[in-house]
Amino acid sequence: MSASIIPPIGLGTYGRLGDEGLAALLSAIEIGYRHLDTAQSYGTEITVGRALKTSGLGRDELFVTTKVADTNLALSSFMPSVEKSLEILDIDYVDLLLIHWPTREEIVPFEDYIKALGEAKARGFARYIGVSNFPIMLLEHAETILGKGEIVTNQIEIHPYLQSPRVRDYARRAGLQLTAYMPLAKGAVANDTVLAAIAEKHGVTTAAISLAFLMEEGHVVIPSSANMQRLKDNWAASTVRLDAEDMEAIRGLDRANRMINPEKSPTWDD
Ligand SMILES: NC(=O)c1ccc[n+]([C@@H]2O[C@H](COP(=O)([O-])OP(=O)(O)OC[C@H]3O[C@@H](n4cnc5c(N)ncnc54)[C@H](OP(=O)(O)O)[C@@H]3O)[C@@H](O)[C@H]2O)c1
Repeated sequence: MSASIIPPIGLGTYGRLGDEGLAALLSAIEIGYRHLDTAQSYGTEITVGRALKTSGLGRDELFVTTKVADTNLALSSFMPSVEKSLEILDIDYVDLLLIHWPTREEIVPFEDYIKALGEAKARGFARYIGVSNFPIMLLEHAETILGKGEIVTNQIEIHPYLQSPRVRDYARRAGLQLTAYMPLAKGAVANDTVLAAIAEKHGVTTAAISLAFLMEEGHVVIPSSANMQRLKDNWAASTVRLDAEDMEAIRGLDRANRMINPEKSPTWDD
């Protein structure tokens, strides 16, 4: 099981551009975040690279994830795009390299880009590899190509309003860790009365309860904020111990409410 491979709280970097974005990343690092989540399509690989340099942290002290864009999955573009990411990040390897979105077979054969992902790891461009936005069927297919345990995570939308029980249960059976993107439902959880009551009991914010719940479910979380206090509040989630009653109440909030569902999406399981 890959539970210890990925730091359980990471920082989402979508939208953290320029000097303001850099300041947010540096605030997070100052608080203790050691896992930054970027992607070729976010334009924030440059911010992550600058944050690493400015922070003075050693390369091995920061866990960096990036994602190969679905427009770079063809064999002719895949490896050059990974090399370009490393150049922009100004590092020799990423800790985790993901396929951002699967694409239709007629655009790029599945086996081609899954093998290229394995090849990127073999070449030392990534310590670990994984996928994002993959349904169960494709997770199983990737495992038959690369072998059991090679794919360490599937990064998907998960929050109290979209708990994805089918993928969650599959991941548990398969020994695969899920990374919850949009773990605060874009901030919507902050206004939830059920979460608020549990938050009061534990003396933390409503957002921290959402994150604590997801981590208790076994997921990695990558919330995003540019605000120092919220970054601290979210970081505090790791100290919260929810009881069975809390967990049951939060499980009851699931309403299969998906917020990210572009046309290119695969057929979701949940
Ligand atoms: N793999 C994929 O396809 C995919 C798709 C989407 C996202 N992601 C990743 O997931 C990361 C997180 O997603 P996200 O940023 O869209 O959603 P999110 O983390 O669920 O929510 C972020 C929003 O919540 C607010 N917020 C943060 N902490 C808060 C708190 N303690 N209380 C109240 N509001 C709070 C933020 O506002 P302030 O900044 O004002 O605090 C921001 O508007 C992204 O940055 C990206 O790295 C991946």
